[in-house]
This record gives sequence, structure tokens and C-alpha cells, in this order.
Amino acid sequence: MTATATATATATRTGPTAESADPIPSQAFEVRGFDAAVGAEIVGLDISKPINDADFARIHRAHLDHHVVVFRDQDVSPEAHIEFSRRFGPLEIHVLHQFHLNNHPQILIVSNIKENGEPIGLGDAGVYWHSDISYKPRPSLGSLLHAQELPAEGGDTLFANQHLAWDALSTQLQQKVLHLKAEHSYLAKYEDLRAKNPWRPKLSQTQIDEVAPAVQPVVRTHPETGRRALFVSEHFTTRIVGLPQDESDALLAELFAHSVKPEFIYRHAWKPHDLVFWDNRSLMHLAAGTPDKLRRKLYRTTVIGDTPR
Ligand code: SIN
Repeated sequence: MTATATATATATRTGPTAESADPIPSQAFEVRGFDAAVGAEIVGLDISKPINDADFARIHRAHLDHHVVVFRDQDVSPEAHIEFSRRFGPLEIHVLHQFHLNNHPQILIVSNIKENGEPIGLGDAGVYWHSDISYKPRPSLGSLLHAQELPAEGGDTLFANQHLAWDALSTQLQQKVLHLKAEHSYLAKYEDLRAKNPWRPKLSQTQIDEVAPAVQPVVRTHPETGRRALFVSEHFTTRIVGLPQDESDALLAELFAHSVKPEFIYRHAWKPHDLVFWDNRSLMHLAAGTPDKLRRKLYRTTVIGDTPR
């Protein structure tokens, strides 16, 4: 079942907590799960204000339970975005330094806007299903994408629950793939994308060296919840290690098609000042696309995760 951000279900308790010893007051916020395969919205929290340990624990829990959380109404600075992101772990510096926000290399600009004929951001980020940074030995824990400028139509982001994808695989296929490994490469589709979008920068040798391919398990176990998830993507996974190329291609095609079935998907329709935080260990995501004539700009931080197992 698909759903938009407007679909809501149950709300958990609101703060503040009684008699907390924490000197930082709790914020009164609600976590409202969406009626979808994943997702919840968090309403009433200001991420630019100090967040005490109890509130942080609720946010962390919501992220683990719902896999993607939408913080509403975050009219906050890049500095606040970065500081909040850092509470979840160290931040990735994206290889495309051309699209870092000025003086804030922790932020990647995701945008189709051109100024003086030059792109201000990565306009085709997310055009293929993927999990961020799966091409590095330590892929991302999660990404935080903050809306700056939204188009009047289009621009949605889709999320596919890879725990459900694993659970729904046939027992035979589960046994076949459980212990397999696959190669992931940032370069897999880079030249195809450059051919379609010539504004994409030509990578320097230093950039190419920074993104040497990584080998990952085809099925990973979430380090915090212990749940298994499929971990292959059409954007970055190039081959199954140890299989002849034709067998590898056929198996990957089957897994790619399975992993994004409609029943695993939540479709996020952005609202102004949304900050969306997804779990790259549980989900893949896809940018649905924006009409060329409309402007879209978002800022992304990417939290570094652990070595997949
Ligand atoms: C991304 O893949 O990080 C960008 C997703 C989007 O622009 O919706």
C-alpha cells in the first residue's frame, strides 16, 4: 500500500515528562505513525532547540520503529541541521564536493536549480533506487533531508522497506541469498547519468580513488534491531560475488524487482520546512522526479554507519 505524508495513525505520548532530573526541559511533541509500510511524523519538536536525553531517546526509538521520520515545521539553519544530525553519529563528506553548501561541507545540496547556467546542486540525486553510500565500506546509518524550496507539483520521495522485502522473499530464495555478497560501486551508473545530464562533473582521479568499490552482504542484519534486510540496489550494486555475470544479472534483476513492490513503499509528499530522516540500513529510496520548469532544493546530511554484517 502506498500513502502520502498526510496519512496518520496512532500517536504516542507527548512530553514533557514529570520530575525529570535533566536540566534541559522536555519539548511537547507527538510521534504519529503513518498508515503505510514505513514512516511517522514528529510534530511539535524544534530541532534547533536543546533536546534532552529523554526526548532524544524517543526520537531514536521512533526512527528505529518507523524507519523514516518526518520532522514537521523545521524552519532552521544549516548549522542546526548539522548539529542535530551529529547526535546520531559522524557525518559523511560527499565525494561531489562541487555540490557542498558553502562553508558547510557536511551538507550536500540536492537541487535541479541552475544559476548562471551552472547547477547549484545534484539535480538527479536518487533517480535510481538506492541506500546512501552503500558503495563505501561503512555505508550510511541514515540521511536527513531538509526542504528549502519545493515545486508546486512533483518532487516526492519514495521509501521501500527492506525488512518487509526480506520477510516476503520465498524460503528458497532466502536460503539462496542469505550468505551471498555483492559489489557496490559509485561509478556503476555515473557515466550513464553524465550522458543524460552533462552538467554532472567529470570526476577527478582523487574522487575516483575515494569511491573504490565495496563488497557488502546481500542480506544485512540491522545493528540496533537485529532485523534482516535486503541490501542490494539498482543504482550501486554491480554483481554478486562468485557468480557468473549472467547468473548474477538475473538474480539481481529478480531482487531489484522484488525489493520495491508497492506494498513495501511509503511515498513522501513534501511540505515546506519538512526535515526527513530515514534509515539507510532498513530502506531504499527514490526521487520520483520534478518537472524541469519547477525549482526544487533540499539540503542533505548523511550520518556514517557501521560495517554491514
Ligand atoms: C537522495 O537520494 O538523497 C535525494 C532524494 C530526493 O531528492 O528526493
